[in-house]
Amino acid sequence: MITTSVILFFLINVTNGVINNVCPTYQDYISIRTNHRCWYDVAADQNATTIITSYGYGVETHKVVTSDGYVITMFRIVNPYISSKRKVPVLLQHGLLYSGACFIGKGKDSLGFILADAGYDVWLANMRGTEYSEEHVTFKKNDIQFWSFNVDDIGLYEITAELNYIAQINSENGKIIYIGHSMGGTTALMYASTFPEEAKHLVKLFILLAPNGGAINTRSIFLRSSALVMNSIVNIFINTEFAKLLANGALPDRLASAACLQTPFIMNACINILNLVIMGLQRKTDASIPPILFNQFPSGTSLPVLKQIGDTTTIGLRAYDFGRLNVEKYGTLLPPIYNVSKIEVPIYLVHSNSDGVITKTDTDILFNRLLPQAKVFGKYEIVEEDFNHNDFLLGKTAKTVLYDKLLLLINSIRYV
Ligand SMILES: *[C@@H]1O[C@H](CO)[C@@H](O)[C@H](O)[C@H]1NC(C)=O
Ligand SMILES: *[C@@H]1O[C@H](CO)[C@@H](O)[C@H](O)[C@H]1NC(C)=O
Repeated sequence: MITTSVILFFLINVTNGVINNVCPTYQDYISIRTNHRCWYDVAADQNATTIITSYGYGVETHKVVTSDGYVITMFRIVNPYISSKRKVPVLLQHGLLYSGACFIGKGKDSLGFILADAGYDVWLANMRGTEYSEEHVTFKKNDIQFWSFNVDDIGLYEITAELNYIAQINSENGKIIYIGHSMGGTTALMYASTFPEEAKHLVKLFILLAPNGGAINTRSIFLRSSALVMNSIVNIFINTEFAKLLANGALPDRLASAACLQTPFIMNACINILNLVIMGLQRKTDASIPPILFNQFPSGTSLPVLKQIGDTTTIGLRAYDFGRLNVEKYGTLLPPIYNVSKIEVPIYLVHSNSDGVITKTDTDILFNRLLPQAKVFGKYEIVEEDFNHNDFLLGKTAKTVLYDKLLLLINSIRYV
């Protein structure tokens, strides 16, 4: 039996930065302080900028204001060892309940650092509502109005602002490569199908990792439940304090990070519940992951975002569903579809067979809707067992199964 004698060891302040916080097995966590098999992982303890600098990179913090007034923070990873002037910009866009930190959670094997090491100009975006993007030109993060945004707002205002900003700063090295995970793929599809000409002008390639371009066939209980209950929740609570429920530092965030790390047993249970309810079944879980995951996840978002992502399981990739107000808003009963057949920029789709959130069927449906010129790089199916939705970011084998392949692809089109 696992004892509970280690309760709260993660909540003790790290004074010198060398207190172990990660172990290779759940059993090892019982003696974490003195266990030589355990180690200190900065990603389990610190924020995005500190993680970046502690691996020897420089970091620039850029703030871009969207046309609807949100101030979005982007972190630019500066590789001090690469002197080459030719650095193609890459924008990394996280998914629902994550932040830009999700791309630097695996040390030197993180996608963000692998790209920086290869000489790319890496930008980590942080969607509105995450801990890094809680500013607005008019509203405070404590104002209810701040928390009324939906996925359309991110796709249409935020992605546009970020791409144009990056294109201005780094214009001499070619178009931007956009890499999005999950909802970071949704926002790309919304953006590029709404502004296909601008996308062609600014983006060289979209690499979408398990993108939600409609999740009719999802096995995620969480997404299905969101579709059932979020409509009522938004209607009842959108103008109340409850609308801030999913803000960073709010209850779910505190619960996850504090509660889930208390004992090895609870840690394992949290991961299993998370996999079962959100990510899809996974038979093996790397025990070194929970402290890193729960240091970043769940990040903040709004109730309407959760509702709209839930709705992708019933109505696919459409604009926000206002219910009876759709007719007034859009002139149709259902909200308009995002027509991905308008996108001419190449899209490289990646999905995993053991991902419970974005299934092979939904990926194929999306792929079949794309124009021939958008499909030139094809799609990639990860067949490894147990590689679920979260493993695109934190999976033990993410580097060998995925990132190395992405780097080859990007390198091959770099100077085209
Ligand atoms: C990250 O943490 C460091 C040290 O605690 C702090 O100085 C820095 O401002 C934080 N960065 C962000 C983006 O919050
Ligand atoms: C989507 O766009 C394509 C290309 O412009 C067009 O041929 C097609 O009719 C559109 N489909 C819908 C459902 O609007």
